[in-house]
Amino acid sequence: MAKLWAGMADGAIDAAAEDFNRSIRIDSRMVREDIEGSIAHAKMLSAQNIITSADAEAIIDGLNGILSDLDAGRLQIDPEAEDIHTFVEQTLTARIGEPGKRLHTARSRNDQVALDTRLYLRGRVEKTKELLKAFILTLCDRAEEARAMVMPGYTHLQRAQPVTMGHHLLAYAHMALRDLGRLTDASRRMNVSPIGCCALAGTTYPTDRRYEAELLGFDALAENSLDGVSDRDFCVELAAALSLVMTHLSRLSEELILWSSWEFRFIRLSDAYSTGSSIMPQKKNPDMAELTRGKTGRVYGDLMALLTMLKGLPLAYNKDMQEDKELIFDAFDTVDACLTVCAPMVGTMTFLPENMRHAAAAGFINATDLADYLVGRGMPFRTAYKLTGELVAQCTASGTTLEDLPLEAYKAKSELFDADLYAAINIDTCLLRRTSHAGPTPESVERQIEYIKEILE
Ligand code: ARG
Repeated sequence: MAKLWAGMADGAIDAAAEDFNRSIRIDSRMVREDIEGSIAHAKMLSAQNIITSADAEAIIDGLNGILSDLDAGRLQIDPEAEDIHTFVEQTLTARIGEPGKRLHTARSRNDQVALDTRLYLRGRVEKTKELLKAFILTLCDRAEEARAMVMPGYTHLQRAQPVTMGHHLLAYAHMALRDLGRLTDASRRMNVSPIGCCALAGTTYPTDRRYEAELLGFDALAENSLDGVSDRDFCVELAAALSLVMTHLSRLSEELILWSSWEFRFIRLSDAYSTGSSIMPQKKNPDMAELTRGKTGRVYGDLMALLTMLKGLPLAYNKDMQEDKELIFDAFDTVDACLTVCAPMVGTMTFLPENMRHAAAAGFINATDLADYLVGRGMPFRTAYKLTGELVAQCTASGTTLEDLPLEAYKAKSELFDADLYAAINIDTCLLRRTSHAGPTPESVERQIEYIKEILE
């Protein structure tokens, strides 16, 4: 295919260099946005009498024809074209002749690619947001079901205090809710039109940038032409937001992997979202969770590559920036793929509440409550803490639990102990009494679900 820039250069480009330079493999997915942008551009050129309305009509009809032929499979994107902008413009000119050659008036591929990328990502981010919302709703549904399933809460992966599975799952719903907010913020900041900045320094034609931006649904115009063509902050912001989505999915994946192990057995993953081993017949492997954890590094890599690509670039456009699309597209593809399996993986897993409760019964997760019992009878917390620690050590040495330690053993430590201490350190009591705002009780889980659903609407 001929170059858009054939003119001054008369020597032919080396074949390997030509292929190296090509971005069609990556940017062909923006073909719709490229056509949409070109239609708006033709409308603006004609409204401003820069081209005739007859030429604009021929261009718009031609572009719509290209789109419907692509959709119908009558036209294939040429993999030899330099990029999608080249392909669309050259196909148009091959089809309609002279008017096609007028489309690129008062435009450059520099503002065109900035435009296409913003338009494409604007749509793309909505898809990811829908997947995130579905994931959050799944977490809410499962949390509702597990609102009263007592399990140990952990710090340092050591059993700490009682929580519920519902409360634990909702922690991830809150993370995802913030992710949703970050994507929305980044998307809003991205919705600024660069088209009309041209190559870098605007144009001498009497264009109407505002009209073109309105046609394309932008909220504002890039107010500096150099910045307009060279700003890729939006890619970085989106990649950062997507990196955090992956951080959260990866942490959840890690827990699902632990919980589905024989050591924990708090959950069983559905066969639909786990695999077997080719040699060990007893195995059921949490591959989807592991892959999600594993793919997190890819998205961080995309973010880091974007930042590094930008950091040394002088204004305005530099070809380095062609790398942006492969990176940000990969980040979106990866996150979407992970959300697509993670939501139903959570949705279909089986809870094993007896095992959660069993784990909650061991590990002294009611030790804080025992100390609090003494505090309730007038002992300073620090003294109660020390005394409880000694009782725990006594239990560990004799292989018993606080629940099973006889009253005499308690009384020997402090006269403040009475038979009602057993009710105070009962696991259910310990959970239900944690009524502070945002705590782990079933009521709190219900409240959180309501809060999350309200925000989602
Ligand atoms: N394929 C290029 C990109 O993705 C389009 C812009 C080319 N502009 C240029 N001056 N070479 O960045």
